[in-house]
Amino acid sequence: MRISYLLAAAVMAVGLAGPVAAQTTLKFGYALAPNSHYGVAAKSFDENLAKLAPGKFKIEQFPSSALGGEREMIESLQLGNLEMVVTSSGPVGNFVPEVAIMDIPFLFRDAAHARAVLDGAPGQELLAKFPAKGLVALAWGEQGFRHLTNSKHPVDTPADLKGLKIRTMENQVHMIAFRTLGASPTPMAWPEVIQGLQQGTIDGQENPMSVIVSAKLPEVQKFLTLTRHVYSPALIIMSKRTYDKLSDADKTAVQAAAKAGAKDMRAWIDQVESKAVSDVQAMGMKVVEKVDTAKFQTALEPAFAEYAKRFGKDKIDQIRNFK
Ligand code: PAF
Repeated sequence: MRISYLLAAAVMAVGLAGPVAAQTTLKFGYALAPNSHYGVAAKSFDENLAKLAPGKFKIEQFPSSALGGEREMIESLQLGNLEMVVTSSGPVGNFVPEVAIMDIPFLFRDAAHARAVLDGAPGQELLAKFPAKGLVALAWGEQGFRHLTNSKHPVDTPADLKGLKIRTMENQVHMIAFRTLGASPTPMAWPEVIQGLQQGTIDGQENPMSVIVSAKLPEVQKFLTLTRHVYSPALIIMSKRTYDKLSDADKTAVQAAAKAGAKDMRAWIDQVESKAVSDVQAMGMKVVEKVDTAKFQTALEPAFAEYAKRFGKDKIDQIRNFK
């Protein structure tokens, strides 16, 4: 008697509240700490999605390479073991080869030029290539321009790079560049880099100020040269397996939240870049601030010829001259 009364009450309660809407959990991985531009993007994505699709999604963040290096996380997206990632473009060319054109050194004049290209036709055409690889690239974010750090000596000119073991991302375009400059490029996933620098298996690395500061590189690297040798785009990517299961309204919400995340990431970079050099100097880094980048560009001539063969000179010029 009592049990049937309870059951009836439960059925009534469900009836009044209506069916409970299913919530989709999105595991969101990234290589850096929560207090980095990637943390900013993930938080902004979460907050914006909560406004655009209230109660529909739960975001679980996995910062600091907790789910592996960037290449591994992208593989996990393809397999459907991970739903979202914010990553540098570094390893992305191993999945969508055309994207690596954006990793060419000295391609962009400044951040405004890069942002215009990525948000314009050339960038959007590249995003359209991802679904064929099991990935949905939602938005282009940013890390800033990459600079060189090392533990051996100040680098003023390309000649100073001779023989230095420089960790590069797992990225053919960057490896070609450093080999051409006379360094010894050593591709390595990010989670191994700090230990490699501490143990001296690599002498240096290159990353934007956003990473140099958030990963506390001044603790393991004495010299910084503001080479600005390459712009470093970032991408917010979702597993296609996850994306395809979403309703049209949720797809729109996810797209908009990712764009908001990318915008906030860029704003964070602007803010970090404005004071990062004095921050790292205060941490003891010796900074070569005035760099004759023309010397680096001249030394890279053979690499530029190789990129032209690989990507097509017309496509490179279209980006270089983009207004
Ligand atoms: O150098 C890299 O691998 C990337 O720039 C990093 C630090 C993982 C951020 O995407």
